[in-house]
Amino acid sequence: MSANSPAAVIVLAAGEGTRMKSPSLPKVLHTMAGRSLVGHAVAAGRELGPEQLVVVVGHLREKVAAHLAEVDPAVRIAVQQEQRGTGHAVRVALESLAEDGLPVDGTVVVTVGDTPLLTGATLRTLVAEHAARGNGVTVLAAVVPDATGYGRILRDGDGAVAAIVEHADATGEQLAITEINSGVFAFDGKLLAEALAQLGTDNSQGEEYLTDTLEILRAAGHRVGAVVAADHRDILGINDRVQLAQARRILNDRLLERAMRAGVTVVDPATTWLDVEVTYEPDVVLHPNTQLHGATSLGEGAEVGPNCTLTDTSVGAGARVSNATADRAEIGPEASVGPYAYLRPGARLARRAKAGTYVEIKNSELGEGAKVPHLSYIGDAEIGEGSNVGAASVTVNYDGVNKHRTVIGAHCRTGSDNMFVAPVTVGDGAYTAAGSVITNDVPAGALGVARGQQRNIEGWVERRREGTTSARAAAAAREAGSGPAAGPGADVTGTGA
Ligand code: UD1
Ligand code: CA
Repeated sequence: MSANSPAAVIVLAAGEGTRMKSPSLPKVLHTMAGRSLVGHAVAAGRELGPEQLVVVVGHLREKVAAHLAEVDPAVRIAVQQEQRGTGHAVRVALESLAEDGLPVDGTVVVTVGDTPLLTGATLRTLVAEHAARGNGVTVLAAVVPDATGYGRILRDGDGAVAAIVEHADATGEQLAITEINSGVFAFDGKLLAEALAQLGTDNSQGEEYLTDTLEILRAAGHRVGAVVAADHRDILGINDRVQLAQARRILNDRLLERAMRAGVTVVDPATTWLDVEVTYEPDVVLHPNTQLHGATSLGEGAEVGPNCTLTDTSVGAGARVSNATADRAEIGPEASVGPYAYLRPGARLARRAKAGTYVEIKNSELGEGAKVPHLSYIGDAEIGEGSNVGAASVTVNYDGVNKHRTVIGAHCRTGSDNMFVAPVTVGDGAYTAAGSVITNDVPAGALGVARGQQRNIEGWVERRREGTTSARAAAAAREAGSGPAAGPGADVTGTGA
């Protein structure tokens, strides 16, 4: 906690957000970059290290409260039964703290739940300025290209902040002002409580406006200040889904810039999307159309994309992932995934392991250097180091009721088109024959063969498919004496490496 740590941060999030046109999802639970809007507000507030962080909820409050309990269990919830204005909402928050025996003594920061681009750094500037000036209240202002809908900052002849007038209550002259109220403030807690007690509802919306506290405090002789945000986009409020997409784009550009400055090559920023919690090391390369979600982490020199969607997945140093979807997977260093692979929760690839083309892996471990190169499903399995699973293999893990494990040892070579009917174990160094349905354990070093014997009926096509192109080709081959020798194929394993 720094010297400027506020006593409380209050996040206002009781409003309905009707313009989102979202009947069941409150506005502040819409997400961008892997975090809800209110989650962004709470995370920024947390950066101030407040003693208490209170979120005022109202509309669909059970949903908002449940979400907050998940993302930040230390958040206090204050319920505003009726949305009677921003001033009323702050009063509800202070009262709920007092009821819990936590009267506020010190700075109180008020922010809003629908301003997800607000950074901790901007809040720190606000609080530092508030303290340095000894203000009763300091508003975070911004000069915006389009002030429609915002409260305007009124300044006196000396340039000091005099009041805030809401758009709906402003005169034509006031509407021309482009310096607006972000809805974010730092207050002296005691003065805030005094000013809130004096709020009226004599305005166009019949609400208790938090913004009226500025005029009240100024009239009582207290210092009222403003900090103008360096980047007006920081205070972009989300009211509809168009603004949500715009904010998402701005945040993504910021996240990509930070990554590039840290040594990540982003081949196509327009089609590369990062969530806020994604981490990376230098010399990562991101190819086009790559989306990294949740707590995905990328080790040094890892190369991801094109066309990848990774969620909560770790990618080891020097790994290569192309055209793949992964969810809660662990991709080891120098491992290779894709093109066209699907790693599901619990897929764990050790160093230099490979999940190749049209391969799906779930809840399974591939040991160091183990390979599943082509067209396979590996679920609930363990594949030992250095083993190779032949093309088109399936671990038959589900009996319709329960899931069972397949264990394949180290340095095995299993044949193409194998079904491993779990539970089943293949010992170290064992081979299995192509086309086998492996229902019994294969001992270490053995060759497991489990398939019908082939028999060839000589001359069948010419007799039974007379007049077809096949029959003509067969006749020509017979006349030329070029048919294959009868008998079994030379290699039963067909490991499809
Ligand atoms: C508010 C400000 C305006 C500012 C703008 C910035 C007031 C009176 N106006 O206007 O000066 O430019 O924000 O975006 O403060 N809320 C509650 N309970 C309520 C009312 C609102 O919790 O009773 C919450 C809302 O959920 C929202 C925030 O407070 O997160 C702001 O409310 P909103 O109705 O969006 O205010 P604006 O009209 O945008
Ligand atoms: Ca608003």
